[in-house]
Amino acid sequence: MAREAIVQADEPKEQKERDAALRPRWLTEVIGQKAVVQRLGIVLRACKKLQEPLSHILFDGPPGLGKTTFATVLPNELGTSLQMTSGPALSKPADLLPFLTNLEHGSILFIDEIHRMPRAVEEFIYPAMEDFRIDIVLGEGVNARTISMRLKQFTLIGATTRSGMLSSPMRDRFKMHEHLEFYTVEELAQIVRINAKKLQTPITDDAAIEIARRSRGTPRIANARLWWARHFATSESDGCITLDLAREALDMAEVDREGLDKQDRRYLETLVGVFEGGPTGVEALAATMNLPTDTLSDEIEPYLLREQFIVRTPRGRTATARAYQLLGKPMRPAQREDDTQPSLFE
Ligand SMILES: Nc1ncnc2c1ncn2[C@@H]1O[C@H](COP(=O)(O)OP(=O)(O)O)[C@@H](O)[C@H]1O
Ligand SMILES: [Mg+2]
Repeated sequence: MAREAIVQADEPKEQKERDAALRPRWLTEVIGQKAVVQRLGIVLRACKKLQEPLSHILFDGPPGLGKTTFATVLPNELGTSLQMTSGPALSKPADLLPFLTNLEHGSILFIDEIHRMPRAVEEFIYPAMEDFRIDIVLGEGVNARTISMRLKQFTLIGATTRSGMLSSPMRDRFKMHEHLEFYTVEELAQIVRINAKKLQTPITDDAAIEIARRSRGTPRIANARLWWARHFATSESDGCITLDLAREALDMAEVDREGLDKQDRRYLETLVGVFEGGPTGVEALAATMNLPTDTLSDEIEPYLLREQFIVRTPRGRTATARAYQLLGKPMRPAQREDDTQPSLFE
């Protein structure tokens, strides 16, 4: 079956449903991200004792690492309500009004992809975050007047795949910044086992580890691969996911032994084949691959960087020896020296 077919059928409705079905509801169910969980535990307990709203929190990290999960766990723990929206959905300040007027004392407003909120909306939200009030301009020109409206004390939770793209005044208004890291194989295997149980699918320990190893350090990807392996095992066998079945399922989905998918390999093939291993700019790579630049920098590159298939240098992205090894290609001698030194500036 073509990988495209799987991916297309997968997005975004099925992915959303799967995320919702498998998302932890309580802090104790969150696997990994120990330091983040500990800090959130502290502020939750303190806020409950003081009966104060939680301070504004910003989560950042690549897609699928648990930003929305944390944003939904926190109101559960506090027994408060949650409203969700996203940066691109807020095209003008007035779009925020229904959310702001629906707030209750201590309730949570979650803005996903907050780095994509227009500047005017951002400025509108500053006084809401700082003093729990908003300034609404009525009328136009010389007749314009501003009225100030008080809001209930609330908590803003922002999520972003790129904290670097957030303006610094916006960033500074979040009292807590939590950066989510890729997960270890053990943590992902634990997530796979728990979620297999939720799906009433038997899975062997070695199969869970195999899926975890091939999930790019990302729980959402582990869930998608578990889902596929479950269908595969049901169709081809008795439904129990064994190591052999997991391997066959992942091979068929064109996930390689390193866990990289077709898109990751295409990236490396383009960098090595077209740009001779770099250094090259992300825009040139994106144009050649016919993908949006954001897809490369937000989804593909973070994992390739972490696993050192590529490095960022002052002059652009460069393939490392590990990338050449993966593609089974020899490295040009000149490249080995200075091109693959990581940049001190990024
Ligand atoms: N720490 C975690 N423990 C268990 N499952 C997780 C964790 N983080 C993410 N997941 C799983 O991955 C899915 C995607 O996570 P999500 O919070 O939607 O990621 P993000 O918002 O960062 O893109 C969730 O539905 C959940 O099943
Ligand atoms: Mg999310």
